[in-house]
Amino acid sequence: MTESEDPRRDEGTGKNITRRRFILGVIAGGAAVSAASYRFLAPHGHRSSGAGERLITLNVNGKPRRVEVMKQETLAYTLRYKLGLTGTKLGCDRAECGACTVLLDNVTHYSCSVLTNTVRGKQVTTIEGLAEPGGKLHPVQQAVVDNQGFQCAFCMSGFMMAAVGYLKQNPNPTRAELAQGISGNLCRCQDYNKILDSFMRGAEYLRKGVPAAGAARRA
Ligand code: FES
Ligand code: FES
Repeated sequence: MTESEDPRRDEGTGKNITRRRFILGVIAGGAAVSAASYRFLAPHGHRSSGAGERLITLNVNGKPRRVEVMKQETLAYTLRYKLGLTGTKLGCDRAECGACTVLLDNVTHYSCSVLTNTVRGKQVTTIEGLAEPGGKLHPVQQAVVDNQGFQCAFCMSGFMMAAVGYLKQNPNPTRAELAQGISGNLCRCQDYNKILDSFMRGAEYLRKGVPAAGAARRA
């Protein structure tokens, strides 16, 4: 039995799920998490009282988003707890782990360390903005699915944004260059070899196109 066929029990449904399905679910999960609940998930210390907030417009994933922000509010907080874009994760919340990585004008940034009111006029891209509107995955996302590159996948969206940002600058990297390019991101499961395998394949998909499902993709 291959790893991708390894059946695991879904505690919620009682049905068997495969690792491939699990990864797909996490990739789609950032957009699927209910926006209705995000206000109640805000951590203490970040909770907004509404006082001192200012209405601004951000460009997030190609769309204008009106949102009230505090002067000291971080972009990670705004994305997760006000715009419901929970695909951006918060790990350390102090510029060490990379879980919160997003693109600002196509350059990677730790969103936990950027004040929201400084990104007005910039294009903010989060993990939810990578796939096409019809749902077709970005080549780097597809490569992660095909290589099953993460374990718990908490770090995955940040890594993916870091890889996409790096590959915009260097579309044909060596493995060592790519490792250096995403070295600002940490994986607590230490799945670095598989992550690199996935992103090397993602680079190839970006250059040559994603092969049709089937033998070519499994090669
Ligand atoms: S949460 Fe931003 S770098 Fe860790
Ligand atoms: S796969 Fe678990 S933290 Fe990276």
